[in-house]
Amino acid sequence: MRPAVPEILVNPGRRREVSVARPDLESAQFHRRFPGYAPTRVVDAPGLAAELDVAGLSVKDESHRLGLPSFKILGASWAVYRLLIDRLGHEPPWRDIDDLRHALAPLGPLTLVAATDGNHGRAVAHMARLLGYESRILVPAGTASARIDAIAGEGASVTIVDGTYDDAVRASAALEADDMLVVSDTSWEGYTEVPRTVIEGYATIFAEIDEQLAAAPPEVVVVPMGVGALAAATVHHFASRATIVVVEPRSAACGLRSAAAGHPVAVPGPHDSIMAGLNCGMVSIIAWPAVSAGVDVFVAVDDTAAEQAMRDLATIGVVAGETGAAALAGLRVAVVAGASGLRGRRILVLCTEGATDPLAYLRIVGHEP
Ligand SMILES: Cc1ncc(COP(=O)(O)O)c(C=O)c1O
Repeated sequence: MRPAVPEILVNPGRRREVSVARPDLESAQFHRRFPGYAPTRVVDAPGLAAELDVAGLSVKDESHRLGLPSFKILGASWAVYRLLIDRLGHEPPWRDIDDLRHALAPLGPLTLVAATDGNHGRAVAHMARLLGYESRILVPAGTASARIDAIAGEGASVTIVDGTYDDAVRASAALEADDMLVVSDTSWEGYTEVPRTVIEGYATIFAEIDEQLAAAPPEVVVVPMGVGALAAATVHHFASRATIVVVEPRSAACGLRSAAAGHPVAVPGPHDSIMAGLNCGMVSIIAWPAVSAGVDVFVAVDDTAAEQAMRDLATIGVVAGETGAAALAGLRVAVVAGASGLRGRRILVLCTEGATDPLAYLRIVGHEP
């Protein structure tokens, strides 16, 4: 039997001073040159704020980001770019993607490889297509066919690994070769540089938030956590300025369990939450220092809470997938449980994904996305 996971853990390892290098905004400048770049919207939810007894509730809606239905393209695009530029040995001038593709031509044919619960792999495949490369994407068993089709739709060859996301990560690492470049959003011993740039890529979200909420910055920021790359980027930006809450599925609460243990702990599968993007059994080792020192509260939620949050978000016109709704689900759980420091505060929730499985959305919300 699985050990019981508490719903809420006030981080015993939270440090008052978190020494994190605030990433410069090179990645944000890069994204501005990207085709179709526009800041994603922030939606006010006064009705939900009143219901939850908080001073304000804003939702940063990442359901449409650079032509894809999740924020993950921000990390994948910056990481692929940095990796290829490093290989090229210099940063060529370029104005648009066609320029960039030509500038990278001396690198010859390459295949980009990634393991994914859905969104990161789709984003890597999208980058490969834009830059004229092949892609090979590995997904865990049980991945929704809509998500597999979307990855294949980017021209990727998709392999279903008989196991969990963590097994898919191990299988992807074994494929690394001179012409097969692994672009992972998680890290392991000896593989840290690319996932570091993935975290940097997420800084664009926070640069936008600073501008969008300049008049009333958030006092609490709530984000979903899989391997913790997004949570680390949140800590880099907000650790000294806001309370940070991260949300995981109860069946894959590797962050909460690691924080309780005081060191990274592997949570064995099966990881079968509908919050597929968060079905990770192990934190990213490079994200962990920031997450363990800078996150204030870890919250673990059940699938029913995510479903409720999808319906809540639909009432304010935000189309959220199961993973995308997790942060709001966690906020509700934390407020109901009476977690200190939430009531009466201005809250920002990241909705990180749109309806990436439209049939599931229809079943849960009751209408099409
Ligand atoms: C939509 C969505 N939100 C959040 C996350 C969690 O991000 P991280 O793995 O960096 O913690 C993921 C990860 O795949 C995701 O797909």
